[in-house]
Amino acid sequence: MRLYMWGLLALAMACIVTLDSGTRGHTPISSRWNYNEHLFPIFRDQCGSCHIDGGIAPMSLVTYQSAYPWTQSIREEILGLRMPPWQAEDGFGMFRNGHALSARDMDMILEWSSGGYPQGPRDQVPPAPELPADWALGEPGVTLEMPEAFEIDAGTRELVRYFVLPSGTAADAAITAVDLQPGARAVVRSAAVFVDTAGVARQLDDADPAPGFADPEDGAFPSAPPVGVWIPGQAPVRMDGAGYPLPAGSDVVLRVQYKKTWITEGQAFTDQSRVGLYLADGDAAAIDSMLVTSPATVSGREVSFSHDIAGEVTLLSVIPEVDIESSEIQVEAVKPDGSRIPMLWLREPDSGWTSRFWFDAPVSLPEGSRLDITAVLDPGAERMPSTSLLGETAVPIRLAVDYVEGAPAAN
Ligand code: HEC
Repeated sequence: MRLYMWGLLALAMACIVTLDSGTRGHTPISSRWNYNEHLFPIFRDQCGSCHIDGGIAPMSLVTYQSAYPWTQSIREEILGLRMPPWQAEDGFGMFRNGHALSARDMDMILEWSSGGYPQGPRDQVPPAPELPADWALGEPGVTLEMPEAFEIDAGTRELVRYFVLPSGTAADAAITAVDLQPGARAVVRSAAVFVDTAGVARQLDDADPAPGFADPEDGAFPSAPPVGVWIPGQAPVRMDGAGYPLPAGSDVVLRVQYKKTWITEGQAFTDQSRVGLYLADGDAAAIDSMLVTSPATVSGREVSFSHDIAGEVTLLSVIPEVDIESSEIQVEAVKPDGSRIPMLWLREPDSGWTSRFWFDAPVSLPEGSRLDITAVLDPGAERMPSTSLLGETAVPIRLAVDYVEGAPAAN
């Protein structure tokens, strides 16, 4: 897989050199693949959750007319592993809620973009898809809306804001899945959902005259990792037999990252997003989270650190946050007998797209296991200012690893 990718890269580089030395307007069609028959399904499924009219990305890729002016840029973003924004390598860990572009899809896009980007048969123009308006998992048990609309004024380019949504639940419950219906889809770049039992978010909200509150600089909130992380197009995952505790009457807190592109810059938006919570019907094992952190200062080319795990656990997902310039991060679980389980390999980590990676199969670890983390830093790597979903900014590399105690939950 890896060797193949490098081969592909070299091939693509060669193509770039050959083609760009000619006149772009007269690129002869040498691609075996065309848009209508071959590329459209890839763009629709891998890019279309964002690159669609009204979506979060600056241009649509789901019609030929809107996609073809971008062929050069598409090739660069794909070769740079910046698009699609899912940085986990498939095979080193497998995930339920997303995957990297397959080598075959990548191959087809590169050949099409450098081989004259043909449209294909005119009688096979695919119908332009629309942004889905329904909840992917069906109607949620509890739907909570932001109490007031929030205005993102024309002059603001990027902003993080928290909103308190009282759950109104009378009994203790367990959250098995979380989803979001963004209000202003063109600017809701990502979101996270927290459970607050201590009333901290309410106090912060009360102290701020506008709806919600800003990222508190003193780290007053969040004090625990989120129960839900949302990015356009990433499938929400529903747990079976396991859930995040939602004590009666607790507050649900929605964190929205608003971000404009050069298309939406200068426009004002109003957002009133909705959170969907799916609750367990019967008993559910409580999902807990362990915070794994690097040393406060890291330097050199390669940085390694470990985290000992207490007791027998089953790992369900991981949220990595990397705010130091680096090219890769690897996470492995190590059992007491020394056997290693690959869990996550992030390439070109991008703090702008913090995701939760749900393991395809939960990872059961006996007592005495540990996690080994290795990061490859850029030469002279510097910290990048960032905010944290995990309430932790003192150290440059941190992971929230979600688990249930004991053997795997029925899944
Ligand atoms: C989760 C949303 C999302 C997905 C999925 C996604 N993109 Fe993007 N893309 C963006 C956003 C947002 C930008 C604007 C740059 C930024 O603000 O980060 C962008 C920028 C780009 C650009 C550069 C545009 C420019 O302004 O120069 C290209 C090219 C691109 N994407 C191609 C793709 C391709 C090809 C795919 C699928 C294989 C894809 N993207 C999948 C959100 C997405």
